[in-house]
Amino acid sequence: MFKLNKNLLISISAAAALSLGLTACMEDIMPSANATPSLAASIDGGVKYPVKDDKTGPYYVNPQVEKQAKHIFNGRIPTEHEYEEWNSDVMPDGTGLPEGEGSVEDGEEVYESKCVMCHGDFGSGGGGYPSLSKGTAYDLHETLTNQRIKPDMDGPVRVFGTYWPQASTLWWYIKDAMPHPQTDSLSDDEVYSLVAYILNINEFEIDGEEVDDEYVLNREKFLKIKMPNVDGFEPKIDGPEGRANVRKYFSNPDNFGAVKVKASERCMTNCQEPTAKIVYIQGAGISDFHPPMSVARDLPKEEPSAGGFNAEKAYTESCAMCHGAEGMGAPVVGNKAEWAAYTAKGMDKVYTNGIKGTDAGMPPKGGTDLSDSNFKSIVDYMINKSK
Ligand code: HEC
Ligand code: HEC
Repeated sequence: MFKLNKNLLISISAAAALSLGLTACMEDIMPSANATPSLAASIDGGVKYPVKDDKTGPYYVNPQVEKQAKHIFNGRIPTEHEYEEWNSDVMPDGTGLPEGEGSVEDGEEVYESKCVMCHGDFGSGGGGYPSLSKGTAYDLHETLTNQRIKPDMDGPVRVFGTYWPQASTLWWYIKDAMPHPQTDSLSDDEVYSLVAYILNINEFEIDGEEVDDEYVLNREKFLKIKMPNVDGFEPKIDGPEGRANVRKYFSNPDNFGAVKVKASERCMTNCQEPTAKIVYIQGAGISDFHPPMSVARDLPKEEPSAGGFNAEKAYTESCAMCHGAEGMGAPVVGNKAEWAAYTAKGMDKVYTNGIKGTDAGMPPKGGTDLSDSNFKSIVDYMINKSK
């Protein structure tokens, strides 16, 4: 979309950017895609800014991010080609969308191995991770107007299926930013299959055909997706008029609920009056969002297996995405020296850090709900593999 480093990019919520209609306006303030790459706007470790009290300018410096960024760019400024590699765009009209195909069935498999640990069973989300579905997108789409016109109804459901105006954002976002710890690692076919699966759990139809368990998605079918909320955003940010629409809309305070001074008369008190014709969220207005900011995660249940707990399998499912490869900031399984640096402080501390999580990027229990003893046996497995 624009040239910024990945770590910064993925922290901008896709949903937040959409809901604010920011995509069009951002180009005005962000470095343009055609400009010579400059790291002036980047805090990825390529350029050093003066750091005081762990802050540089308005930014907090996350040393872990810096460490990872150095790995990615080998401690130097990336070349034009490297920038190109990282810079991708998939637009609603199909620009940037590669050929490829993937089935719901394959998507479910990839989802189970690379996404479920954060996004929950069937995209239920929670625990700070976004939900990818709450049910039938077409029915739930109507909830977006609830509480504005029917105050006794539940609040709006804002997930991909109900809320996002364009499916291209989903394709691009998964390819570019997911899975969270290993961005840009999925093949185009894997992305098609994951998109197919996410359409399936949102109970989509494409061109009158249900995206059922057997569905196989390809580029042609993808471009026929019509999102239920495609006309739900104001101003219209898509298309060649997008930017002009945004400017026009925000130059008129009546459109977004600002108050303005009564223009007609001189006045000393109560000079402001609300003028909005359309007020979307006002004061205590919509209170009841779905999904709420944080709920307990609905994780796959631990399967008790006859032969006892299988640490190797659990490692592959829940830890390998961070501990299986260089560059994630996590000690790599098989790397003796890296683990020695951790175990030097004693195994008790290693277990406790793993269970409670660390500021440097280890989520509590790796984001699982494993029992303490099963978690510890995975740690033992990882360390034994690294001796
Ligand atoms: C380690 C945890 C983790 C893993 C694994 C992960 N994600 Fe995410 N995902 C996140 C977080 C955190 C966000 C929110 C990012 C933000 O808003 O800055 C997110 C956001 C998303 C979104 C945008 C949702 C929205 O409504 O804003 C999609 C779609 C998504 N992930 C798909 C996937 C897919 C598909 C996979 C597997 C290939 C995956 N994720 C794996 C943590 C993860
Ligand atoms: C989202 C990425 C991620 C996942 C998933 C993850 N880890 Fe980690 N882990 C890290 C990072 C990053 C560190 C290094 C943290 C540090 O240096 O404080 C780490 C460190 C650890 C440590 C050393 C803790 C210490 O300070 O001594 C243990 C033990 C560990 N992980 C076990 C696991 C196990 C077991 C799993 C799977 C159940 C797992 N991790 C899943 C990222 C992850």
